Amino acid sequence: MAEQFKNFIDGRWSAAQAAKTFENRNPANRNDLIGLFPSSSGEDVDAAVAAAKKTFASWRLVPAPKRGEIIFRVGELLRKHKEALARVETREMGKVLKETRGDVQEGIDCAFYVAGEGRRLFGETTPAELPNKFAMSVRTPVGVCALITPWNFPLAIPTWKLFPALICGNTVILKPAEDTPHTAVKFIEILNEAGVPPGVVNLVHGGGEEVGAALVRHRDVQLVSFTGSAAVGREIAAACGENLKRVSLELGGKNAQIVMEDADLDLAVEGALWGAFGTTGQRCTATSRLIVHRDVAKKVTEMLVDRARKIKIGDGLDESVEMGPLINDTARQKVLRYIDIGKQEGARLIIGGAIHDAGACANGYFFQPTIFDQVKPDMRIAQEEIFGPVLSIIEITSFDQAIEVLNGTRYGLSSSIYTADVGRAFRAMRDIEAGITYVNGPTIGAEVHLPFGGVKDTGNGHREAGTTVYDIFSEWKSIYVDYSGKLQKAQIDSVE
Ligand code: UN1
Repeated sequence: MAEQFKNFIDGRWSAAQAAKTFENRNPANRNDLIGLFPSSSGEDVDAAVAAAKKTFASWRLVPAPKRGEIIFRVGELLRKHKEALARVETREMGKVLKETRGDVQEGIDCAFYVAGEGRRLFGETTPAELPNKFAMSVRTPVGVCALITPWNFPLAIPTWKLFPALICGNTVILKPAEDTPHTAVKFIEILNEAGVPPGVVNLVHGGGEEVGAALVRHRDVQLVSFTGSAAVGREIAAACGENLKRVSLELGGKNAQIVMEDADLDLAVEGALWGAFGTTGQRCTATSRLIVHRDVAKKVTEMLVDRARKIKIGDGLDESVEMGPLINDTARQKVLRYIDIGKQEGARLIIGGAIHDAGACANGYFFQPTIFDQVKPDMRIAQEEIFGPVLSIIEITSFDQAIEVLNGTRYGLSSSIYTADVGRAFRAMRDIEAGITYVNGPTIGAEVHLPFGGVKDTGNGHREAGTTVYDIFSEWKSIYVDYSGKLQKAQIDSVE
């Protein structure tokens, strides 16, 4: 009998109102059924929002340092359970253990970083223009927040959103991706153990069309934070716009790594492999374009192909495996479609391009590391997010052209340049249109204490992580205290 999992509402594990469930299977082996999770509906969302709304009244008054202490304990428990959580993650979403340990570590880093913020959450005190008057600004919570999170970082991304939401005094409904509900359950168990009070964090499983849409449209949800595709992001933004809800979006990427002719080529190839094939290319920050100077293109391509050929594909629970499966069959079909598109557009497929189903991989959604060269900047494979292990090599002949090609997509999340020339590095830092730029490092690997997000169609101007995330999860309130004992008129009395 498959294990049956539940929602978590108002401090209790509860089945969905309708008894419908969905299956969660291991993408490395679809015969491995992890469990059945509730296919929740609008009624479940209503119950979760009601709990979050009721609890907001008390949670917002808990001193922020106390909220920070709870988050600190969450960090300690995440550290204690790091290995077990990494295994749960790998089993349900496929990336290799080394990476899921990193994913959990990102959550730990986030907990300790945010916990300290409980004793900061700085506002400003400032002079007032009138005598005997005091002026300051403080952060106040927004209210009930809906966090809609993806499967590729099933622990790290919920922590990025949830800890800042809680430290600011908000209450939360978490809707995890349907591909990774188990990690979410484990995360909630840890939040409980750490002492997060009932109703502060509620978990509702299910699909975007039912649960996500109901959250986004709910009148008692004040804020939606979403990480996922640009297409869904647009729908969410439109619905939130209609209802004047605060919305923070972290969407697609078409991240590029530039390799100039003066670069350390071993380092650049190492970086490109990690950026393109780490997490099977399923990161928003993944390297999907390699923009290489013509003088070194042949060499770089040969080195890459040679290394890509040796990547060991398989079940991420096997420590020797370097690349796990894609998340599901839909993802694999999408990658296959782009292989066809690339060929039709005239790019040259130099390695991979096919499903990998040899031996033990027969029952999973594996795909070969794939590289196209002779890619033109405006081809669809160089413009659209594929979200798989597919790298497009584009040749350029100058630094200016490299920057122009890098900037020539709708997206602007991460970027990278490999060069030995400090002047080029600084020009790249200035001229690249992206939220994140790496010099002599790959496009993946952001740290939690710096802003994370992108420009153009990658989002709507917000930045998670860093100190910027508090601008998402809090409202500014400006406060004036007049202790003069008389009516003083700003802009009028003050000019006399
Ligand atoms: C994502 O793919 O959505 O910078 C997040 C990185 C990771 C986070 C990726 N720290 O690659």
